[in-house]
Amino acid sequence: MAPTKQQIAVYITETGPLFGRKDVPKPGPGQILVKVVAAAQNPTDWKSVGRALKASKYGAIIGNDFAGTVEELGPDVPAGVRTVGERVGGFVLGTVSANGSFAEYVVAEADRGIVPIPESWSFEEAAQLGVAPFTAMQCLHQTLELPSPFEARSGPQRTVLIWGGASSVGQYVIQFAKLGASPKNFDLVKGLGADEVFDYRDESIIEKIRAATNNALDIAVDTISDGKTPEQVTGAIGDMGGRVAIILLYESPRPDVKVKYSAAPDLLKSESNGRWYVDLLTKILATGKIKPNPVNIQSGGLVGVKGGLQYMQEGKVSAQKLTYRIADTPDIPEL
Ligand SMILES: NC(=O)c1ccc[n+]([C@@H]2O[C@H](COP(=O)([O-])OP(=O)(O)OC[C@H]3O[C@@H](n4cnc5c(N)ncnc54)[C@H](OP(=O)(O)O)[C@@H]3O)[C@@H](O)[C@H]2O)c1
Repeated sequence: MAPTKQQIAVYITETGPLFGRKDVPKPGPGQILVKVVAAAQNPTDWKSVGRALKASKYGAIIGNDFAGTVEELGPDVPAGVRTVGERVGGFVLGTVSANGSFAEYVVAEADRGIVPIPESWSFEEAAQLGVAPFTAMQCLHQTLELPSPFEARSGPQRTVLIWGGASSVGQYVIQFAKLGASPKNFDLVKGLGADEVFDYRDESIIEKIRAATNNALDIAVDTISDGKTPEQVTGAIGDMGGRVAIILLYESPRPDVKVKYSAAPDLLKSESNGRWYVDLLTKILATGKIKPNPVNIQSGGLVGVKGGLQYMQEGKVSAQKLTYRIADTPDIPEL
């Protein structure tokens, strides 16, 4: 039964993110209401606060990634897609409306951007089964057009460069592809399956990657897509040219290297092939081989969000997922 009272949430006000009370959102056709147990943070959360302030989107609830239990099914949710009480993890488009994951309840699409939580994953771990793993799949299968792990493969094994292997997206790309980071995270990315690891702070990284790949690298995922990485990642591609999956928009500095952008929110749209990605992630997780990003629980539940956004904006997040447990949030009176 949907709660009628207001919920605690973190939302946009004229002075920035505020921890307070808002109405519980209602699921529309094809949507579900999820009681959030844990929410995880992505860079888009702090970036979208700036955009929302500029657009005066006051009242918009912040947060994309969540894990929790299905509280209520909206109208027209196809039979068997979701069940009340089911443990689910996924993402929504936060900071644009009165619905976001940094809250006690979130409305999500029933069959897009959401997966059942594997039994061995806690809610805190599953809170990151949103933007990062869906983006990782988009880069590999939509942009680079690589076959899924469950499709028959023909021809020789491909080598793919995953730039930013310690980033949240990068950790999932490595694991999904199985197949650079700074030295402090070398053990982590090798443990996830990277065959060779390079230090992105090394001045001669491009020469080293070109040597290691015999100048024949033709595909890469740029999970940072920022700063020097446009030159670096396209520069690592061999003399025959190639293709790079990017997740922040940039122009390719090399005419023989095509860059192609993808955006996770596109997978939530009804005309997208979002269900294909839901099925794929569900199957990938069922292999039992995927490790979540190391979870860093922030104290105070949703009270910690403001500090977490600041910490991430300052570039201090390293190979970890800032995560908030809703139950850790202190109660505040209803309005
Ligand atoms: N298009 C989309 O839909 C989409 C989806 C998800 C993310 N994104 C964007 O993609 C970016 C990454 O997101 P995320 O959640 O994966 O970030 P994140 O985990 O917060 O990124 C932090 C990590 O990035 C690594 N890093 C920073 N600069 C690097 C560089 N120049 N080269 C290699 N690694 C570097 C750091 O490694 P060390 O700790 O080793 O220094 C750190 O571990 C963000 O800008 C985000 O907005 C876009």
